[in-house]
Amino acid sequence: MTCMVCELTVIFSVSAGMGTRLLHRTIRKNYFLRHPLPKPTQKQCMLHRTFPKPISNLSCEALVYRRHGAFSDVLHLEEVPLFYNGREDIYIRMLAAPVNPADINMLHGNYGITPCFPAIGGNEGVGEVIKVGCNVNSVKPGDWVIPTDSGFGTWTTHAVCQAHQVTSIPNNISLISAATVSVNPCTAYRMLMDFVTLNPGDTVIQNGANSTVGQAVIQICSSMGINTINVIRDRPNVNALIEKLRSLGATYVITEETLQKQEMADIFKVVERPKLALNCVGGRSAGDLFTHLMDGSTMVTYGGMSRKPTPVPAKAVIFRNIKLYGFWMTQWKKDNLHDVAKIKGMLSDLIEMVRKGHLLEPACTQIPFKEYETAFHDSLNPCGSKNILIME
Ligand SMILES: NC(=O)c1ccc[n+]([C@@H]2O[C@H](COP(=O)([O-])OP(=O)(O)OC[C@H]3O[C@@H](n4cnc5c(N)ncnc54)[C@H](OP(=O)(O)O)[C@@H]3O)[C@@H](O)[C@H]2O)c1
Repeated sequence: MTCMVCELTVIFSVSAGMGTRLLHRTIRKNYFLRHPLPKPTQKQCMLHRTFPKPISNLSCEALVYRRHGAFSDVLHLEEVPLFYNGREDIYIRMLAAPVNPADINMLHGNYGITPCFPAIGGNEGVGEVIKVGCNVNSVKPGDWVIPTDSGFGTWTTHAVCQAHQVTSIPNNISLISAATVSVNPCTAYRMLMDFVTLNPGDTVIQNGANSTVGQAVIQICSSMGINTINVIRDRPNVNALIEKLRSLGATYVITEETLQKQEMADIFKVVERPKLALNCVGGRSAGDLFTHLMDGSTMVTYGGMSRKPTPVPAKAVIFRNIKLYGFWMTQWKKDNLHDVAKIKGMLSDLIEMVRKGHLLEPACTQIPFKEYETAFHDSLNPCGSKNILIME
């Protein structure tokens, strides 16, 4: 039975205390974001006590944090109780979950959303449905599901959630593609679809082009016949990276320094100036993009990897009508949670690209869940490969 007050099942049938609060949050949607919930009154809490016991008590092992800080200080593998009510609930075995920059920022408390503590880390991943309650008909045992919204808490062996919290995806793509489709490819897709109308032959310019989002941008544009100018940081083996991004479909791959050189004029003898700029980096890398944009074009900022502000030339926005936007996939998901068809349509387009070999799985280092510390150490010193936790 679900409580009308706070969507919980049996929490207050357990005596009050720290443990109770952990159970409360674990049961409620299995994520701990600060959604404003009406506080149950004393009388309502008494009502909760009359609910029956859960049909089955389960537990999972999860990476839990109780305060913000460095992963080594705050993240711990813990056994967490799960409650499955056999009616509206879905019981999931997590299969794989990546460690994205946003997850690390969330641990540090430097992200747009903050969890209620204790919190389970991880926003992205894929799980397999083990069993569903009698009122659930959107998924069935064996289906693969991904979180519909951010803050799911994917760094866990198992989870219990409700139908609207997950979206089923086909299980005939690779585990890595499935575990990584809902953040970076979706971000690339939305930025290419939602800000300007792009036609074959148009040009998109982006910095941070070697990021996972950047690589998805390259591949989606390539499949749409859109030219890309891809800006990367210089490095000793830069030609190897240029070749790699070209093999994904990049039209041009240049270093940040090239943005200030004559070579840019040569590029624009061949392709149109960009209608759209995607900014992952900020700082000079972003400021130098303005010179090359078409008048009336759009710059979308989605990351700040350099941790420096973007210098915006006044003439770009006054005389050249260049428009500046930010994009945040988390907000897009929140704004579109009700629009299941739109979410499914986006995922279906991306998964079709994966199936056709137009969107490759990102380079990943697979790390057993129990060895999670390695995944986080490596994420501090990225070496071009995303770390992904594999649950067994
Ligand atoms: N707004 C949204 O909705 C949204 C969604 C997804 C991701 N993001 C953001 O997008 C960014 C990339 O995410 P991801 O998962 O694709 O990352 P990723 O695969 O881990 O790649 C990180 C990229 O950042 C680059 N980088 C790191 N420090 C840099 C610096 N100081 N200057 C220039 N480039 C630097 C790296 O360049 P090298 O290749 O040279 O090492 C690498 O290409 C992150 O900021 C993330 O938070 C935002």
